[in-house]
Amino acid sequence: MVYQLHNGIEMPLLGLGCWAMWDEEAQKTVENALEIGYRLIDTASMYQNEAAVGAGIAASGIARNDVFVTTKVANDDQGYESTLRAYEKSCTLMGLDYVDLYLMHWPIKGTRAETWRAMERLYEEGAVRAIGVCNFALPFLQEMEGYANIIPMVNQCELSPYLYQKDLVEACIAKNILMQAWSPIVRGKRFDDPKLLEIARKYGKSPAQMLIRWGLDHKFSTIPKSSSKERLLENFEVLNFSISAEDIALMDGFDEGFRVSGEDPMSMY
Ligand SMILES: NC(=O)c1ccc[n+]([C@@H]2O[C@H](COP(=O)([O-])OP(=O)(O)OC[C@H]3O[C@@H](n4cnc5c(N)ncnc54)[C@H](OP(=O)(O)O)[C@@H]3O)[C@@H](O)[C@H]2O)c1
Repeated sequence: MVYQLHNGIEMPLLGLGCWAMWDEEAQKTVENALEIGYRLIDTASMYQNEAAVGAGIAASGIARNDVFVTTKVANDDQGYESTLRAYEKSCTLMGLDYVDLYLMHWPIKGTRAETWRAMERLYEEGAVRAIGVCNFALPFLQEMEGYANIIPMVNQCELSPYLYQKDLVEACIAKNILMQAWSPIVRGKRFDDPKLLEIARKYGKSPAQMLIRWGLDHKFSTIPKSSSKERLLENFEVLNFSISAEDIALMDGFDEGFRVSGEDPMSMY
């Protein structure tokens, strides 16, 4: 499933999240994912695995322009000049000439506007194909109207049926910003929810597959992480079914404002 961002760039909706994997494990996981068919790889400077992720892409033998690579500017690197430097460093570590999507990792108070200005420059100069933000709750997006020349193409947020941020989702749709779900399978913390198990039984799918498909059926991008080849495969085998509108609405109702780490971006406002 491919989505056209508001600048015309095509991006796969389903991808691999690379948080909490290091060195050989990260390289091998990226290779396995690309072999299975994943074409979107999400990492970040803060994950400290950009070199291994880049090595995995290189070792896969898949042409560079067939893989959509995302990385993120770290909180400590925010600011105008430091963001420009951080982007160069990420490219060098990954062994790539360009990144497909460069994201601001968190909306840090005091530096987010300058950071965005640097990201706009990277985009305007053609260094990166698309730019976006992460963890931009509604007030951050509204504030952005005062300083941004370019509307972010993507907003990557914690998003699942258990944290269905409807107001934010609707605002992003209205602004043509693609929502991308992090922790889309809630790090397994709701796999034993009887409501989820019941609906999974109905479709003959696993809880993880239902949560991933819920995102795709909403037209969110979704980036589940797994270091296991078996689970990478399981998470990718969601393209051959869809959830009925009625059951999507049912799953929307699972919302309980649950955050896997308890970290609410609004604490940075
Ligand atoms: N922008 C941000 O601020 C931000 C924050 C957090 C995450 N992210 C991104 O979002 C990605 C995904 O989020 P996440 O890693 O926090 O959580 P997640 O994808 O919801 O869950 C990952 C966890 O679930 C396990 N798992 C994966 N597939 C499974 C399956 N089919 N059955 C059972 N368990 C399964 C994984 O273990 P195994 O590896 O052992 O399978 C891992 O422990 C990250 O990797 C990162 O790229 C971004």
